[in-house]
Order: sequence, then structure tokens, then C-alpha cells
Amino acid sequence: MGMRLFGLVGHPVGHSMSPVMHNASFKHLGLPYRFSLFDVGEDELSAFISAARTEMQGLNVTIPHKVSVMACLDSVSREAELIGAVNTIQFKDGKALGFNTDGVGCVRSLRERGVEVSGSSVLVLGAGGAARAIGFQMALEGADVRIANRSRDKAEKLAEEIASKTKRGCRALTIEEKTLARELAGIDVVVQATSVGMHPNTEDVLIPPRILRRGLVVMDIVYNPVKTRLLREAEKAGCKTIDGVGMLVHQGAASERIWLGVEAPVEVMRKAVYEKLCGGIDRGP
Ligand code: ATR
Repeated sequence: MGMRLFGLVGHPVGHSMSPVMHNASFKHLGLPYRFSLFDVGEDELSAFISAARTEMQGLNVTIPHKVSVMACLDSVSREAELIGAVNTIQFKDGKALGFNTDGVGCVRSLRERGVEVSGSSVLVLGAGGAARAIGFQMALEGADVRIANRSRDKAEKLAEEIASKTKRGCRALTIEEKTLARELAGIDVVVQATSVGMHPNTEDVLIPPRILRRGLVVMDIVYNPVKTRLLREAEKAGCKTIDGVGMLVHQGAASERIWLGVEAPVEVMRKAVYEKLCGGIDRGP
């Protein structure tokens, strides 16, 4: 078995957890593969993908290339096409194939904590790239999805797109406290899918925590810090909380499945990420 190369392409990529996670997995699987970071600007992306076709087996793609990279590929999966973004590329027989594992990563991270998305009412906070992937995947899995975002028009556009493309009901909500407080009564799961609360702005929180109620599931996709202010407040309010490490690890595991055709060692990957982020396992409540 020869050396194979994998990596993350984006700009910037310096703080990524992906090498730690994937290299721990390759080591555990006994594979002599390496996962590296590639800081590539917009004007160099196309040339980078061309070279990668012959030199690499797979790539993860991050900000700001998740949409623009699609023009460099030979084909994209149905999910990636619906979402309109690619976070995983497989190079196979000279072809570059695009996938999106962000949404599936979120769904699996909920599922492993006993939260089934199908038939649930889910509120997605945000309407950017991450929220798109999560909103589409939730709808595909049979959830009743609502979207709330700081810019109302973006929430409405995304909700309309999800409803028309997946044929599932999807509504936009305003982010006003009164509206959210009322609507939360009918919500099972809240997924915070923006960068709000991420280091260094760790005191920021997108919705007023006082509207959270006991029994609600609250997931935050931010994993730095692992316990965001939203999760701390949700915990105090008696919610079930799920941090962003689960989604990170499950999207990575889904990418490895595409590249290698094997089940990735999720617990090994999780341990490596927690060690890097906070010096040890912290699964929260
Ligand atoms: P990503 O790919 O990480 O989702 P993005 O596509 O730039 O990033 O989207 C950022 C999301 O975070 C958007 O939903 C954005 O809200 P707007 O559409 O109103 O801009 C949200 N966001 C970022 N910073 C925010 C802040 N300080 N307050 C509220 N929402 C914020």
C-alpha cells in the first residue's frame, strides 16, 4: 500500500482541526496516508485542483471555496447539487467528484445523542453555507425545518429554496425575541449554524437565551470554544446540549468513507479533536 495524500484546501486554514482528526484516523487504520493543509487563494484554486487530480486521492474544501470549487469538478452528488456547495472531493480515475458531508455530519451528531431528525421540528439559526447544508439535509431526512437569520431576506430565500427543491415544508422566521419565543413551543431541535460565539467573541449569542426551555435540544456548530455561551445558557435552562465537535467529526468520517470506502474510527477522531481543543475528552452534559 503506497503513500496517499489528502488535505484541506481553503483560505485561511491555519486553525483547522482536520489534520489532527484525519491523521489520527489513518494511524488507527494502519494506513500510511497523510492529511495536510493547503492555503490557496481564489485565483490559484483552479490550478491547484488540476494538479491535485494526479497527485492526491481526496480533498476537503472550506471557506471561501465551497461554492466556486464546483466549476473545477467533473460531477457532484445530488446532496451537493441541492446544497449548492462541495466540502469533499474524491479523485478517481482522473475524475474529480464533489460531495457535501456537512449536513450528514450534523444529522449523525444528533443521532448519536439519541435525537432523531425525521419527523422533528428543527429551527436552523443562520442562512450561510453551513446553515444551507444543514437545512437541506434536515429536510431530506424528513424534518420540518424553520430558518431564522439576522438578514431576514436570506432566511426567506433559503426557506423557499429548501421547500421547492425538497418538497418539504420550510418556513422563515424573524429573529425577533417575541416571534422566536412563541415559535419555540413547537420546536424540538435548535441548531446554531452561524459563527456567532466563536473565539474570540465568546460572549456573543444570536438568540436571547432566556427564551430557551427545558426539554429542547440545542446544538451549536461552533466548536471553539467547545462549550459556547449558548450551550452554557441552554444547559442552565434544562436543555439537552450538543457541541460542535460531533458535527466536525462526523462530516470528516463521512468524507473518509467516500475516499477510502471504510467506516472511519469516529471515537479516535473525536478524542484527537478534544485533546487538541481542550486537552482531553469533554463530552459535555
Ligand atoms: P458559513 O459558511 O460559515 O455559514 P457564511 O456563509 O458567511 O458562513 O454565513 C454566515 C452566517 O452567520 C449568516 O447566516 C450570517 O447572518 P447574515 O446573513 O445576517 O449576515 C451569520 N452571522 C455572522 N455573524 C453574525 C452576527 N454577528 N450576528 C448575527 N448573525 C451573524
